[in-house]
Amino acid sequence: MIRLSGLGLALVAVAACTPAAPPETHLDAPFERLQSGYDFLTPETQALQDDTFSNPGYLWVDRGAELFNTSDADAPSCASCHTTGLAGVAASYPAIDSDSGQLLNLEGRINTCRERHQHLPALDYESDALRALSAYIANQSHGLPLSVDISGAAATHYANGRDYFFTRRGQLNLSCHQCHDQNAGKRLRGDTISQGHGNGFPAYRLEWQTLGSLQRRIFDCDTGVRAEPLPLGSQTYIDLELYLSARANGLAMESPAIRR
Ligand code: HEC
Ligand code: HEC
Repeated sequence: MIRLSGLGLALVAVAACTPAAPPETHLDAPFERLQSGYDFLTPETQALQDDTFSNPGYLWVDRGAELFNTSDADAPSCASCHTTGLAGVAASYPAIDSDSGQLLNLEGRINTCRERHQHLPALDYESDALRALSAYIANQSHGLPLSVDISGAAATHYANGRDYFFTRRGQLNLSCHQCHDQNAGKRLRGDTISQGHGNGFPAYRLEWQTLGSLQRRIFDCDTGVRAEPLPLGSQTYIDLELYLSARANGLAMESPAIRR
């Protein structure tokens, strides 16, 4: 039994249930090897994720494909410009938009196309349409390694995201780092704490009974330590997404994953 600095959070070590693999190179994270949240799921939940017919995340992927191929109002459809699809694209997000110099996550990139190229209003962050489109595009990178770029204009965003990750917050006064770097593999309130990677998102969470964005997951972790979460889509959360992705560079994309 390990106690997180007397805060009453009991963490019980569980045996790692995955075979050893050669170490991989990654930034900052103190792991011998990167492990997806998938490795910390029960075999039943893993099986649900793997079965593309039963995994409810694929309903969102299908809906996203429809939206991608359909014109909204008089605007050209996404597909009319992106004729060859967007395979591999999501694995490199968040990324700097060369036009505006802004760091965009996948949701922001989709909304930028809506506004810039379709002259349509941005979609609400957790709207059905934005979740479906992002699931559809993320799924086109399924199995590919995360590979975000943190050089150039992205560097300050990376540093800002890293700061957020290491800062203690909330009534429990805990940082992301303390749970996901220092206590990965331990039990907490019926969950096994994973390494905290975003490679499965957008993901279908059983607790949500729906598919949600990575930022919604982060929002829940902030709420879990009784901190004031940031609004979904905020720049700091996008910077944090960049840090999370860089820290997991090399890990295979899994969206739409199933998570508890
Ligand atoms: C009190 C411990 C704790 C803190 C602090 C915490 N988390 Fe989590 N987090 C969890 C638990 C428990 C889960 C659900 C099990 C899992 O996947 O790790 C989770 C899940 C996640 C996941 C989903 C992983 C997956 O594969 O589905 C991400 C990403 C994540 N956290 C990021 C963060 C970030 C970023 C922060 C800081 C803003 C943070 N967490 C703070 C406990 C914590
Ligand atoms: C009129 C043409 C046009 C339409 C319509 C359009 N896009 Fe784009 N899209 C672009 C261009 C051009 C870029 C390159 C970045 C830029 O110039 O904005 C791009 C970039 C992207 C990227 C990033 C590609 C990369 O390699 O980083 C994604 C993802 C994307 N669009 C998704 C969508 C989605 C989803 C829709 C529909 C909601 C859409 N786009 C509609 C023209 C379009």
